[in-house]
Amino acid sequence: MTTAAEPQSLLLQMLAPEVRADPYPVYAQILAHGPMQLPGNNLTVFSSYADCDEVLRHPDASSDRLKSTAAQRAIADGAEARPFGPPGFLFLDPPDHTRLRWLVSKAFVPKVVKALEPDIVTMVDGLLREAEAGATFEAIGGLAYPLPVAVICRLLGVPLEDEPQFSAASALLAQSLDPFISVTGSAGSGFEERMQAARWLRGYLRELIARRRRDPGEDLMSGLIHVEESGDQLTEDEIVATCNLLLVAGHETTVNLIANAILALLRNDGQWAALAADPGRAAAVIEETLRHDPPVQLVGRIAGQDMTIGGERSDGGNVAGGVTVPKGDNILLLTAAAHRDPDHVDRPDEFDPDRPVIRHLGFGKGAHFCLGAPLARLEATLALTALTSRFPDAKLAAEPVYKPNVTLRGMSELSITLA
Ligand code: HEM
Repeated sequence: MTTAAEPQSLLLQMLAPEVRADPYPVYAQILAHGPMQLPGNNLTVFSSYADCDEVLRHPDASSDRLKSTAAQRAIADGAEARPFGPPGFLFLDPPDHTRLRWLVSKAFVPKVVKALEPDIVTMVDGLLREAEAGATFEAIGGLAYPLPVAVICRLLGVPLEDEPQFSAASALLAQSLDPFISVTGSAGSGFEERMQAARWLRGYLRELIARRRRDPGEDLMSGLIHVEESGDQLTEDEIVATCNLLLVAGHETTVNLIANAILALLRNDGQWAALAADPGRAAAVIEETLRHDPPVQLVGRIAGQDMTIGGERSDGGNVAGGVTVPKGDNILLLTAAAHRDPDHVDRPDEFDPDRPVIRHLGFGKGAHFCLGAPLARLEATLALTALTSRFPDAKLAAEPVYKPNVTLRGMSELSITLA
């Protein structure tokens, strides 16, 4: 543990736009530094695999941002606690988290996800047929983005024609997951725009819910309305928040898994051709991408109580050593750094799908483990196997362009030469 100045400058480096293309050297410095505490910002940052894993499994680690010291202070100063109603269950603790997750998880059982497979195959095929028309292919706009968006719209019952309107709102909302507030103490630029986007998207969803009430379909939104109408388990505000969460998750994450995997396959000799020859490698390629260059780079928690992390627990339950996080602190878990922790993985900087074991926190861990993981894995598998087998000689055409987001790491442009 060192003085507060050094951690702050490392964290500011991590947020700097110029490191977006390759944040891993900064993560390596943060990892070498060890846990960092910025008492003035009520912030603790963990970056080792063992610490991140321990926090994610810790019963006192809360996902409810209202429990932070900063939020409590703002509320004491007169701020409205939840100006948009309840948040998505990603940001809730039990019992609300348990109840809402259980209701939605019924839509993500393996049978439902598997049933989407023929549609996903058709969508991938259609997108790649368009790709064949040109010598170069921009893989974000041509495949990695439109596929998950069409799938989540189908699942939720959101008309695809409305997509251009809410994709802009969803991109702005994805920025609100970045840790500007915790590290800099300010809300970051574009705060008003993000608030407006949040307001607009909720309004849009309310209208759509009203339409689905009159004219229900087979989709998840209609299913949630049905639950609400047949009992008191779910309020309209909770349906809005849940659909909002799923829509943004479906828009801003799988795109980056597909794109980050394409880039890794192209940058690492022989990997593209190996997948083209053996589609059975897809699962390992996807898990190694989730470790080596994960779409979600960090996860936040709030200390619900004073918590000691990384200490030695004796038989009597006493904890010696470790870092004590004061109740109310924001906790940043730099999972992308943890994935390259040499105490967790050999040759951490190498992209190697043939590692004997690939353990990662790319979909989180514990009670909030990603509900969309099976869907994301299926979409990525079908997209990557089709792309490599159809274009076995593809090459990187230009250096990719990265989006400004820190938490949800991804590219805005990834051009490849097809033949
Ligand atoms: C590659 C794509 C994806 C990645 C890397 C990813 C990653 C994650 C991570 C790391 C978490 C845990 C966050 C935390 O613990 O605070 C999470 C939660 C969640 N994800 Fe995903 N996700 C992906 C795709 C999706 C998709 C496609 C959906 C839905 C359509 C989805 C829905 C959710 C939901 C609802 C949660 C909250 C679960 C809870 O709080 O109980 N995700 N995801």
